[in-house]
Formats: sequence, C-alpha cells, structure tokens
Amino acid sequence: MRLRFDDAKTYDLHEALRSAEGLAEYVSEVNNVADSGSYDAPEASVNLAVDAELRNRVKAVVAKKVTSELKYIFVIGIGGSNLGTKAVYDALYGYRDLEPETRPRLVFLDTTNVTILRFYTESILSTLSNVNELLIVSISKSGGTTETIVNTEIFVAAAKKRWKTILERLVVITDDGSAFAQAAYEQHVTYLTIPKQVGGRYSVLSAVGLFPLCALGVDIDALHQGASDIRSYCLNDDLAHNPAAQSAAVVAYHHQSGKIISDTFVFNSELESLGKWYRQLLGESIGKEHDVDGNQVFTGITPTVSVGSTDLHSVGQLYLGGPKDKLTTFVYSTDESQKLLVPNERTFSSVVEMVNGKTTNDVMSAILEGVKIAHNKQQVPFMSVELASITPYEIGAFMQFKMMEMMYLGKLLNVNPFDQPNVESYKLETKRILEK
Ligand code: PA5
Repeated sequence: MRLRFDDAKTYDLHEALRSAEGLAEYVSEVNNVADSGSYDAPEASVNLAVDAELRNRVKAVVAKKVTSELKYIFVIGIGGSNLGTKAVYDALYGYRDLEPETRPRLVFLDTTNVTILRFYTESILSTLSNVNELLIVSISKSGGTTETIVNTEIFVAAAKKRWKTILERLVVITDDGSAFAQAAYEQHVTYLTIPKQVGGRYSVLSAVGLFPLCALGVDIDALHQGASDIRSYCLNDDLAHNPAAQSAAVVAYHHQSGKIISDTFVFNSELESLGKWYRQLLGESIGKEHDVDGNQVFTGITPTVSVGSTDLHSVGQLYLGGPKDKLTTFVYSTDESQKLLVPNERTFSSVVEMVNGKTTNDVMSAILEGVKIAHNKQQVPFMSVELASITPYEIGAFMQFKMMEMMYLGKLLNVNPFDQPNVESYKLETKRILEK
C-alpha cells in the first residue's frame, strides 16, 4: 500500500504537517500503547494485528465448525460488527454470486428486513440437506443491538424447526462479560470475545472480522501481516514518514478551510464496501456534538463513497464544478496482471478509435489520470492510496492505516474518535418505544 500526495496544486503536505499541532506527542502515546501490547487503552486496536494468540483462538473454533460440507455462513451484525468483514469479502469475492459453484458464501444480515429474512429462512434453508451446511455467526459488541438480536432470534428459530442441534452451528462474538456472552455461555453456544477497549468500528482485525473470514478460507495471517507491517510506519514519530499522520494532517488542514466532505473514490468497484467501512469509521469517529473539552461544537466531516468510473457519470460534474467543500481520496489497485485486450477485430472500429490495441487497464488508468488532471485544473484537492493488489495483505494494510489515521485525526480536531454517544441515544430510544 502506498499513500501518494500527487496533487501538487492545491496544498503543500509540509505545511499541513507543520500545522498538525500536538500530533507528534500523540503518536508517541500510541507508541506506548503498541509497546505495551495490551488492550487497556482506547487505542488498543493497534495491537490486534500482532496478536498471534487471537489468530490461534479463531483458527481453533474454525477448525471445529467448518467442514467441507459448509455452504453458507450467515453473518448477523450491523455497523462495526459487519462492515469490515463485508469490505474484505466484497473486495476478494464480491462477484462470487455470479459463480454458481463456489462455496461457502457469506450472507450478511444487518438491518431487520422481512423480505431478506424470509428469503434466507424459507427459500435458502430449505435447499440445505444437513445442519453442517450452514454456520450462523451473530456479532454484537455491546450484545444488545436490537436489529442483531431480532435477526438472530428469527434465524435461529427458523433453523431450529429443521435441526434441533442448530445451536452447535451458532457462534456468538461479543464483549467479554456482556449479557450476550453470558446467555451464550448458559446455552452452551460457542463464543469469542472482543477486547473491551476495541470499539466496533475498530474491530475488523479482532474475532469480529477474523472468524467469519477465516471460516470462509481467507488468509487471516496475511490480513494481519499487512496491518502489522503498515502499523510500524504509522507509529513512526517522524511524521513526514508516517502515512497515517500525513493523511490525518492533510484532512485536518483541509477541514480548516471548509472541506467538510471527504470522498473515498474507489477505482476498482469491488472496493466499494471498503469505502463504506471507512465511511462509518470517519462518520462516527469525527462527527461529534462536543469536543474533548466539553464545548458544544457540532463538528464532523461527511464521508461519501464514489465508484470510478461509474459515478463520474452521475456526480463527477458536481465534484468538479460544484461547491469547493470536498477532499477526495482515490483508492485503486495498481495490479496489472488482470486485464482484457480490446479485440483487434472490432465491430465498430470507427468509434472511439483510440482504444484500438489498448487493454482495460490502459483505459481505466487513462480515466483515473484524466480525473486527477481535471481535479487539479479545478483546484479540487485529492490524495491517492495505491494498493499493489487486491489481497488480504493489502486490505489489512489499508484498514490499519485508516484506523490509525482516524485516531490522529481525532487528536487534531480535538474530538474523541472512540465514542458514539448519539448512536447510543437512538438505540436507547428504540428500546424505550419497544418497551411500551
Ligand atoms: O462503531 C460502533 O460502535 C457502532 O456503529 C456499532 O458497531 C453498531 O452500532 C453495532 O453495535 P454492536 O456491535 O454493539 O451490536
């Protein structure tokens, strides 16, 4: 993974770093957390990628639950409990549904949607001939998110009608000591825990992401290795060589001058869910009513996700010609190994003649370069994240980089990037209404 500041026109990286007050001290605090290897501090998620014991615990449960018969893994969870897993799954296998024979498949159940629940509990369950063909993974850090618990109850009840032993095919992932963990224990349901200080949106490298991905066959060692390797760079106290600090400084610098929208513009459409994972990370971490001193600030950066080149044909005009309130991060793979050639024998050879002899990579690179030039001309700021390939290693690196960027950005914008009081308030109100 490589972070590039290839936008020379609209800002100076060194100026952004000079204005990153207090960041060097904070990076050294995060280094202390990393050195401790413990899960005691709010930044504890930085230690997940170097936790071999965690990987071993996950693999031991996978070994017990996954057999060659497995066809479906149903991941029930929402927000931080499923977005990271979905990001990795879609990046690696996003188009699997088009392949009839591949298995197992991950199915994500997040919001409570009767059409989707009916489809899986009626149509799909009836296609399965034995209980080992499915695995249900119910994930809730708090253990009390209404949608997740409702979906789990409905799904388990439907499966129980077919198989009395269904609870043996359920794995719960939750905070140690949560009511959900206690209930799982009492029902003899296998459960894995999440360290208390690792918040939902920082939990993809914990059992939350590792278990379903490993059950599917994703190389979680490589996912962690990518994260661990970039972690060293993101802990560098020389900020000029620390990509997470650089990126946070650039975002904060632009925020000061009114760039209140951050667009993650992916140029490989299978990375869209990765953009959505980041959307939660930025939205929940930085969107705050109060700063850390208790002042009411109503601050935030609105995260958006665009897919190239598709969305150039829907919002490109707005991005380039509209209000100057956006900072773009292009994310794309530089892997040249996958490409198709425009056929030599063309059907419409007189149309768009310049694609003769070109590959799909040539075309997409030209579009991307063209977009960057257009951004430069319009003085719309951007940076780029290049992935060497779309692999667990590179995705792990990207996610770790972004999670550390977010900690640093919270520091620079003087907000707590680890809490989400307003999400909690909607959850409480929902429960109050349901209690009536
Ligand atoms: O980041 C967060 O903490 C939230 O978005 C949660 O991930 C989300 O609300 C789901 O909560 P839980 O995992 O407790 O069910």
